[in-house]
Amino acid sequence: MTATTALPATATAPGPKGVPVLGSLGSWRRNTAEFLLGLQRDHGEVVRMRLGPMTVHQVTSPEAVRRVLVENNGNYVRGPLYEQFGVVMGKGLLTTDGEFWRGHRRAVQPVFLKNAVTDIIPNIVRATTEMLDEWEGKAARGEPVDLMTEMLRLTLVTLSRSLFAYDIKPSSRVLKLIVDDVVEVMFRRGTASEMLPSWLPTDRQRKIARIHRVFDRIVADVRAGYARTGQGPLISLMEQAEDPTTGRPWTDRQIRDELLTIYLAGHETTAVSLFWTLLAIAEHPHVQEEVDGEIGRVLGGTLPDAQSADGLAYTKTVVDESLRMHPPIWIFPRAAVAPDTLDGYGIEAGSSILLSPLVSHHNPRHWDNPMAFDPQRFTPEAVKERPRMAYFPFGAGPRQCVGNFMALLELRTIVAMINQRFRISRIPGDSLQYGSPVISLRPLRDVLVHVHSRDVKATPSTKGSAPLTCPVRH
Ligand code: HEM
Repeated sequence: MTATTALPATATAPGPKGVPVLGSLGSWRRNTAEFLLGLQRDHGEVVRMRLGPMTVHQVTSPEAVRRVLVENNGNYVRGPLYEQFGVVMGKGLLTTDGEFWRGHRRAVQPVFLKNAVTDIIPNIVRATTEMLDEWEGKAARGEPVDLMTEMLRLTLVTLSRSLFAYDIKPSSRVLKLIVDDVVEVMFRRGTASEMLPSWLPTDRQRKIARIHRVFDRIVADVRAGYARTGQGPLISLMEQAEDPTTGRPWTDRQIRDELLTIYLAGHETTAVSLFWTLLAIAEHPHVQEEVDGEIGRVLGGTLPDAQSADGLAYTKTVVDESLRMHPPIWIFPRAAVAPDTLDGYGIEAGSSILLSPLVSHHNPRHWDNPMAFDPQRFTPEAVKERPRMAYFPFGAGPRQCVGNFMALLELRTIVAMINQRFRISRIPGDSLQYGSPVISLRPLRDVLVHVHSRDVKATPSTKGSAPLTCPVRH
């Protein structure tokens, strides 16, 4: 492993040879995650490869990741690999750079600050209670639960009510179809249909049209609701935002694209993480025991509030470890504007950079036995021992996930509430296929689980807690 060895700046990073014209595109398409993990194992922590016409560097050493995301972040823009996201999301926080991005980030940031997100706890509690009440019937009938779909529905309802005051009623089937389409069309696999002009009626274009139909309806409903009630902290910020360059209110297009971005970036990621965390707890009896102990001590039969959610310290380490093993955003790209040097290797202007939380989080240089699930890696002492950028499930620097506090709060609160009332068990013989993940690290097939009621009915806490107020004044 040569990543940290000082080399002349002109050195070319090592990497796979690939084949003429396509480079390593074949391996990338066959199983992207497997291929990228293999690059770190076989070539090191800054690896150069060709994917068709593109030169791409996979960067996984903490030092080089810090340089790209933090120290020299101005040199690394979204680039061509992010363009695919624009097909669905248009121009929003995820897909833009420069002044446009800065103005949007500034406008939406207030609702996502650490102190502000606790306001969503009542919505998390309500949506989770509704789901768990439904689970009682399923548990009694021995009916299996499709865990990923349930988590998608829960996080979508929570996000929609919390940020947009919109009570979305997703039919599980439609939701699943649409989210499946979104992840498929946004992930560039280098297939022929991605190269065809957008006016050709391909299957891909039909899916894009269907996504737009569904989401344009949601956007219209959210805005109509706001016009009627003036409620919804994030839609309120968007409706009142001004474009810093023109001084005019955001256009309909700006509001639509940003609203879509938040809906899409905010619910699937959190659902994927809930999925893996719940399964990890179910499959590690000692972790289950510790989680149960903490729920008993901290919640003691009451529903979480701002104070008790903050006290779920062990559950938080379980979530952190789950985000290490299964980071929902497992790769994301950048493009170098000017030449740079990463760990001594030259990076040409225009070349693409691939950052992979999945690969970095399995780097044996920083993680002993990386395939083992061990929440002890996230005690405050253990965290101090590691370079900060060995772990970045939410990215880092100015482009760090705007929803990270919201996601972490949702994750520990929902995980605690589910375990307070239910046990989850996998159905014997039902295999979990990882396969080649697309945008987010989802299982390839539906995973059905049994839920077993613990006969606990949690009630609101009678302890005094901070009043829950909206940070945005209407
Ligand atoms: C476990 C849950 C989540 C994970 C793992 C996650 C992960 C990430 C990552 C890795 C990035 C950085 C991408 C890059 O630098 O290219 C990002 C950006 C972003 N995330 Fe999240 N995210 C999560 C939840 C959320 C939530 C709940 C929201 C909003 C409600 C959200 C909204 C966004 C937005 C808008 C960006 C773009 C930020 C910018 O560039 O200014 N995410 N997320």
